[in-house]
Amino acid sequence: MRRNAAGAAMANALPSANKATDTAKLCVTLARFIFMTAPRRFFLTAGLLLIGGLTESLSLVMLLPFLHFMGGGNHSTHLSIPTGFLSSIFGPTVETELWVALAVVATVIISSALITRARMLTMSRLLLDTLNKLRMDLFRSIASTRWTTFSKMRVADLDHVLTGDIDRVQQSAVSIFMLFQNGVFLIIYTVLSCILSLKMTAFAVVMGFIVFLIQAPIRKMSAEFGDKLTRERQTQYRTINDFLLGLKVTKSYNAEQRYVHELGAILERMKADALKYSGFTSLSNIIFQSATAVVACVFIYASYAVYKLDVARIVLLLIIFMRLAPRFSDIQTQLHSLFVSIQALSAMQKVVTECEANKEEARVAGDEGFIHFKLKDKLSFSHVRFSYGNGDVLKDVSFDVPANKVTAVIGPSGGGKSTIADLAMGFITPQTGHIAVDGSRLDGTTSRAWRDYTAYVPQDTYLLPASIADNLRIARPTATAQDIRKALLLAQAEFVYRFPKGIDTIVGDGAQKLSGGERQRIAVARALLKKPDLLILDEATSALDANNTDWIVDMLTKLSKKVTILLITHNPAVLRCAHRVITVQDGTVAEMKDVKRRNKKPKRKSENR
Ligand SMILES: Nc1ncnc2c1ncn2[C@@H]1O[C@H](COP(=O)(O)OP(=O)(O)OP(=O)(O)O)[C@@H](O)[C@H]1O
Ligand SMILES: [Mg+2]
Repeated sequence: MRRNAAGAAMANALPSANKATDTAKLCVTLARFIFMTAPRRFFLTAGLLLIGGLTESLSLVMLLPFLHFMGGGNHSTHLSIPTGFLSSIFGPTVETELWVALAVVATVIISSALITRARMLTMSRLLLDTLNKLRMDLFRSIASTRWTTFSKMRVADLDHVLTGDIDRVQQSAVSIFMLFQNGVFLIIYTVLSCILSLKMTAFAVVMGFIVFLIQAPIRKMSAEFGDKLTRERQTQYRTINDFLLGLKVTKSYNAEQRYVHELGAILERMKADALKYSGFTSLSNIIFQSATAVVACVFIYASYAVYKLDVARIVLLLIIFMRLAPRFSDIQTQLHSLFVSIQALSAMQKVVTECEANKEEARVAGDEGFIHFKLKDKLSFSHVRFSYGNGDVLKDVSFDVPANKVTAVIGPSGGGKSTIADLAMGFITPQTGHIAVDGSRLDGTTSRAWRDYTAYVPQDTYLLPASIADNLRIARPTATAQDIRKALLLAQAEFVYRFPKGIDTIVGDGAQKLSGGERQRIAVARALLKKPDLLILDEATSALDANNTDWIVDMLTKLSKKVTILLITHNPAVLRCAHRVITVQDGTVAEMKDVKRRNKKPKRKSENR
């Protein structure tokens, strides 16, 4: 069986939220994910960082002889450069002309700039690859999870994870890259400064370590703030989502102000938290800058008055120090920002873990045990018990849906009719009993393949905010305009051709441009376009007036010669086309009636199949 390889890789790379609760683990998890995305590019980036750092520090070291000679007041253009610790290779001095030395320095600086550019490009590519992979893995996980799991999740939360949270994880990834870059530079400069003066470097390292320790509470606070931010942003998304989705109802009750107040309160809370956090981090900057100034003064005094280093060396050490300090400061800032944003990874992990644990382990063509369904005999429910977790909706339901017949399911509201439709589609599986298509059972591994042969018009019609043609092509992407026309005519949706743009008419958000009945007819046409083996209509014609029932009966009667139909309806008039009527009540089949019917001659010539 083929698993979603990318999703599985992410689930492995991102352990469950329980295992990786603390911030440091989250950071390591993300760093590992970056590495796993493109190990070779990761090493290339690291190599370029190292070479870049070395060339940059080399250009600094090269300043030493110039400072030395200029400090000596000697205006000769012939240089005799002491080689220091490299004397075993080059001898005690290297003799050269000033212009040659300057040309070498310029070459090193230009090379350093070129390497920096290459490094930036490689890093950007790695970052973009990582984020795209992260997004795609998350999206695939959600797409391949079981319907039952998905239906329990809030769309606003998923929306937040897929957009807001992932953007924050992007910030974390950038911080990790910058930390890595600054870390490499920090090490190179420290080594360089060790060569110039071990004692002074040791002093600077100890001071740096102390400053780092002092900032520990700020890091802790950053993590807490990040966690809070995740929750508050989630609430904000939920409020906005609820408001937008239910705007018509909200307006009908003049309840807009409630949402306005709610959002206002959330934003105020978020502002107060953000200001509190800014107060702390700005304090951290003050601590750092003050500490840097004190350390620099002590540094100059100690190197000049105590260790009596020559001026050229002190100047170079100071240059290194001045380059190191901002990097060190950047590391602090990046750590704080990382600790805030990385909390979003935890929210993402929860979704991925939940989705991966409840993955639809669908067999695909070529897998062992893959079933090519063909509904020739019957779809059967055998002693099906189903519960959403709150008492049994279906207690013991057994019935057959015979092939190429219309089977109607009727019964009181809340009796479990739509649940039966979901079971027949394989969206949900029974707790006990089973559902089979010509004897092949529907379960987590076979349901997806079965859905290739079914079409479902649910109770709540959903149309994409796209063109009518696009909406129909969800069912069959290769359908021609002629196929679409046939399906629309069969579903009595010829009104589409009265629109100036015909099937290219955009239906708008929530298909607002169409009436309820028009929406239903387009949804029926979409199902017909698929040419399914089993067609499930769940109150699919409820928005149509009584005058329209004739064509429904006519259409279903004609269709049933080639298609098996499961019809859920409250409309007794439509029952005229049913060969079998099943009444579902109190979680059981209260009555099952076969209707002996003579098929009338079809009135219309247009037929979809
Ligand atoms: N996703 C769900 N989670 C929990 N309970 C659910 C869910 N869907 C339906 N139910 C419950 O299951 C019962 C049966 O619901 P179902 O939608 O199958 O009824 P129905 O017969 O189609 O009703 P109607 O004629 O009103 O459409 C109801 O009590 C409902 O509250
Ligand atoms: Mg229903």
